[in-house]
Amino acid sequence: MTNPPDPNRGAPTLTHALLGWLLIPLLVLLAVSAYTTYRNASHLAETERDLVLEEITDDLKELASAALEAKRKIDPDSLAFNLLIRDAKDQRYFAIYDPNGALLAGDPRLTRMGTGVGNDQHAVFGTLSLDGRKVRRAAVKGSKEDLPGFEIQVAETMVRRDRLTLHLLRGVLVPQALVLILSIPLIWFGISRGLHPLEALRRRITHRSAQDLDAIPADNAPRELQPVVTALNDLLLRFKAVQDEQRRFMADAAHQIKTPLAVLTAELDLARADTSCPCAQPTYRRLQKATARLAHLVRQLLALAHSEANASKTRVLFDLSELAKEVTGDFVAAAGRQRIDLGFEGAEQAIPVRGNPTLVREAMKNLVENALKFTPEGGTVTTSARASPPVFSVADSGPGIPDAELPLIFQRFHRAPDSSATEGSGLGLAIVQEVARKHGAVVTVGKSALGGALFELRFEGDAVSLS
Ligand SMILES: Nc1ncnc2c1ncn2[C@@H]1O[C@H](COP(=O)(O)OP(=O)(O)O)[C@@H](O)[C@H]1O
Ligand SMILES: [Mg+2]
Repeated sequence: MTNPPDPNRGAPTLTHALLGWLLIPLLVLLAVSAYTTYRNASHLAETERDLVLEEITDDLKELASAALEAKRKIDPDSLAFNLLIRDAKDQRYFAIYDPNGALLAGDPRLTRMGTGVGNDQHAVFGTLSLDGRKVRRAAVKGSKEDLPGFEIQVAETMVRRDRLTLHLLRGVLVPQALVLILSIPLIWFGISRGLHPLEALRRRITHRSAQDLDAIPADNAPRELQPVVTALNDLLLRFKAVQDEQRRFMADAAHQIKTPLAVLTAELDLARADTSCPCAQPTYRRLQKATARLAHLVRQLLALAHSEANASKTRVLFDLSELAKEVTGDFVAAAGRQRIDLGFEGAEQAIPVRGNPTLVREAMKNLVENALKFTPEGGTVTTSARASPPVFSVADSGPGIPDAELPLIFQRFHRAPDSSATEGSGLGLAIVQEVARKHGAVVTVGKSALGGALFELRFEGDAVSLS
């Protein structure tokens, strides 16, 4: 069996919508967090590196002071200078100005700041561009005792700062992103768990048979679903009312036809008994036959209406074996007329079944009637009743049912194309199936050991009485 394509495949699912509504705000939060973390990280990196830069500037001041005290020239190529100024990652620049503003050593592009640098011994920071790169500069003034009036500047590129910023940023953002990614399956799981009642409701509705119009229990549905369930139950109730009305109409119509039909049959019997008019006899015979067929159809219609009616919910305990024997017995005479060997194979002990014996008898009658009807003269029909599970079956030596017909024979008014020679309404098996459904039973059809058809009525679930 192939499933029909789902027309709602492209429709958005609630899970996706909820996931989207949760994840988009979370992504926005992550972006906000990334921005603030970046701001904090670069501020932190700047403060940290500025401290280092200030220390280098102070050291450079001491170095220059020592050189001047020793009346030496400041030599930028000396080892001490190199140790202070060289760096593996960053490019460093420096400048030393004497109190007259003359550059004693260093890079002239680090222009003198003059009054920009106060006397409070603390460095003044700023950024500027050198060799096309952004650099951070620290400038200090010499103190009264140490190089008074001098100005010492050290600048460095931003490599270490940028790295530190990136490092801090990564340290915060990577775990956050990981938490977000890991939360997706958890959120997914949470949502699908949360939507379980919806799924349970869907399953409860889809597993229903088309005939089951009883209200859907709303008690264990969550409050959000209650209005849906209530609306659905309301619809079911209205639908049931319409269906009941139709059923009643069919039953009433069939019932109403019964009386004139009985009159017609009686009148025809009288007419046939009157032999004074022999030329009309063939017509009467045909009329009688047609009337009999009509009567059969009306009986079947009534039986179907009865089997579908809700009144048939009455359930009693009865013996399936006993009932099968009785029904078979009712057909012995008819089978004899057709020279068909009708037999019953029953169980010794009773087979208790809970249900409506009138309906089950009707179903059995239809199965036996069919077997006798479609089995040619001299054939065999065997009915049987077995226990655990209770099964009533009818096997015949007739032509059987062609595979192409199998899916159709239970439909109302369906008759095999070549069965037009036999009388019938095509309602027999529809009645059997309706009765089976009412009893939670299944009707199956297959090939019998006798060579013809094998029909089985198997009772399951509630109908199987353990008492
Ligand atoms: N025992 C059987 N052997 C062969 N064909 C059968 C048998 N029972 C039913 N069928 C087929 O199924 C069709 C439907 O059966 P049913 O609903 O009882 O209608 P009807 O008996 O009025 O023809 C029959 O017309 C016949 O073709
Ligand atoms: Mg029939």
